[in-house]
Amino acid sequence: MPVIKILPHPEYCPSGAEISAPPGTSVCEALLDNHIEIEHACEMSAACTTCHVVVREGFESFGEIDEIEEDLLDRAWGLEPTSRLSCQAILAQQDVTVEIPRYSVNHAKEKH
Ligand code: FES
Repeated sequence: MPVIKILPHPEYCPSGAEISAPPGTSVCEALLDNHIEIEHACEMSAACTTCHVVVREGFESFGEIDEIEEDLLDRAWGLEPTSRLSCQAILAQQDVTVEIPRYSVNHAKEKH
């Protein structure tokens, strides 16, 4: 099973973490399954950017980014060339390292 290494994040995992999940699992699901409560405001339907992660190793293993994800990422806080929406980044066989950005912007949220 591929291993996901998560770099330390002050809120979600202060000392960093290493988890594993079967290929075909999204990074977001794998994090949540392991009690790393990354935001996922649109319930993983590629409609927000709160699940944004920066892939530090293994970026290519996630395959192509589709247009919807690309457009959303353009609005993400702290965008980097290896940014992905973690709910759309599906694990293959390779180990990966991800960093959860310090902030997120919720484009799906509306105040009433
Ligand atoms: S949870 Fe909204 S895009 Fe991933």
